[in-house]
Amino acid sequence: MKITVVGAGAVGASCAEYIAIKDFASEVVLLDIREGFAEGKAMDLMQTASLNGFDTKITGVTNDYSKTANSDICVITSGIPRKPGMTREELIGINAGIVKSVTSSLIEHSPNTILIVVSNPMDTMTYLTHKSTGLPKNRIIGMGGALDSARFKYRLAEALGAPISDVDGMVIGMHSDTGMIPLTHLATRNSVPVSEFLTSERLEQVKEDTKVGGATLTKLLGTSAWYAPGAAVSSMVQAIACDQKKMFPCSVMLDGEYGLKDLCIGVPVILGRNGIESIVEMKLTDAEKANIKQSAEAIVNVNALL
Ligand SMILES: NC(=O)c1ccc[n+]([C@@H]2O[C@H](COP(=O)([O-])OP(=O)(O)OC[C@H]3O[C@@H](n4cnc5c(N)ncnc54)[C@H](O)[C@@H]3O)[C@@H](O)[C@H]2O)c1
Repeated sequence: MKITVVGAGAVGASCAEYIAIKDFASEVVLLDIREGFAEGKAMDLMQTASLNGFDTKITGVTNDYSKTANSDICVITSGIPRKPGMTREELIGINAGIVKSVTSSLIEHSPNTILIVVSNPMDTMTYLTHKSTGLPKNRIIGMGGALDSARFKYRLAEALGAPISDVDGMVIGMHSDTGMIPLTHLATRNSVPVSEFLTSERLEQVKEDTKVGGATLTKLLGTSAWYAPGAAVSSMVQAIACDQKKMFPCSVMLDGEYGLKDLCIGVPVILGRNGIESIVEMKLTDAEKANIKQSAEAIVNVNALL
């Protein structure tokens, strides 16, 4: 199992580190445009191997796509992150060009690869990848919901005073501060609906804190977060590489599911060896149906900027 991660910055390096620590891949190639940067990150990570007990070989390359040849999975994290006060959508001007050229170079050397898009605005970058590569739908997956759901579970556990392992919950919709939809009515603590423990006001607060989860960290860190994004991508890579058939909310091209067409938006999917094994259509409340429609409209507006 060979995995390429493009962009050896904060998210790319964190993703490579988690993939290595989980020890399921034979090889990870880190690629960056900045001279020597990926080589340095790869060497530093390899020097953790004896300490962290993994056998995955991590190599770094400066823009040499021949070294990525025959990758089973490629993760795209190249591009600029947001600064405090910025929205993800404001990154489109720079990141669209980067994502388009990176995907074309990756496919040239790994025609059968599965692509995971991380660069923001992620739903639109995933859509762009579909339009520019024409790859089958199952092989292009946007990462956003896995991270947003992890942030939702963190906020739920905080409100409940419970360990995170007790909590289950999912976020669908656009990967943006206003467009994401934490599914509070389906969230549980060990199968018991969280609404039995939390007031509707507290649950509403959890929802709002989840939606601005990225912006809160960007304000604290001065740039966007990397540990949870890296961990989220590595879990998706593992589900595909190990054919786990695990469910994650991911940004995928819809063709009528949820009443939506010709856009990429976060919905639950099963990830396995074929990438997207299936899209799960679940019952939404009327309010959630209205939310996903609104979220889809916002994505279409950003897509129109391409
Ligand atoms: N989808 C999500 O949930 C999520 C979460 C966090 C961050 N992000 C996004 O991921 C992207 C990366 O964030 P980061 O914090 O790692 O940024 P970063 O600046 O730390 O790293 C980005 C790296 O991409 C490299 N790069 C730029 N152009 C390139 C090119 N053409 N080819 C190869 N490499 C190139 C840069 O040299 C840099 O090292 C941003 O767009 C950010 O908004 C998405």
